[in-house]
Amino acid sequence: MTQAMIGIIGGSGLYAIDGLEDAEWVSVESPWGAPSDQILRGRLAGTPVAFLPRHGRGHRHSPTSINYRANIDALKRIGVTDILSFSACGSFREEMAPGDFVLVDQFIDRTFGREKSFFGTGCVAHVSVAEPTCARLRAALAATGVEGLHDGGTYLAMEGPQFSTLAESRLYREQWGCDVIGMTNMPEAKLAREAEICYATVAMVTDYDSWHPDHGEVDITSILKTMHDNVDKAKAMISAAVPGLGGTRAPCPHGCDRALEYAIITAPEA
Ligand code: ADE
Repeated sequence: MTQAMIGIIGGSGLYAIDGLEDAEWVSVESPWGAPSDQILRGRLAGTPVAFLPRHGRGHRHSPTSINYRANIDALKRIGVTDILSFSACGSFREEMAPGDFVLVDQFIDRTFGREKSFFGTGCVAHVSVAEPTCARLRAALAATGVEGLHDGGTYLAMEGPQFSTLAESRLYREQWGCDVIGMTNMPEAKLAREAEICYATVAMVTDYDSWHPDHGEVDITSILKTMHDNVDKAKAMISAAVPGLGGTRAPCPHGCDRALEYAIITAPEA
């Protein structure tokens, strides 16, 4: 039986977590390069936790320059079995208002300037990401019952760093049926699957992107204010969800932790 260790990836504004016992920042080396920062390791109500600020403390890495492979690999090396990811997003739905949280269950990946796989040189592997987030972790997050929580939603991952044009915003909303948009959840989710780590992500709505007739274009000042308010809610969600995920961990009922058993893999020639 595996001991659970909960990895938390914090987005813009979320650079620490409250109530961590025996907390220490540790450096983790990865053959994939440097992770975004050191990892804050500790225990939350007895459960081992490893926190990594996605952009680094002081927000040093842009969505494109984040080394997603090093981040996921470093969390795996330190013993993380389950990842709860948090990030800011824009909303395409009137009812998913700034301040609300969305438990993403699907993605459309429109990123193009990032390394997206651990495989490809020497060994080729194709894992399934048909269900890219772990339903078991999503249920644990949904059970925290924080206010303004939407269970399920499609996240459009864009390259950035600029926000979308009005035409793109309308396309994603009206034609592609997306619910939220952000710049950082891909390839993070795909790499977690390749690393056989269960992964769920909380998209924290900061704005209505540019489609909304009453809200105009994306305004950084109001994004920052909402983001600031969202951080306290994210911390409360983490404190509520983590204890129930600790202890000995049965195999994931959805097979996230055995993804490579079901993958198509071409072994390197001897
Ligand atoms: N992050 C926060 N708001 C966003 C938006 N409207 N588009 C992309 N990423 C975002």
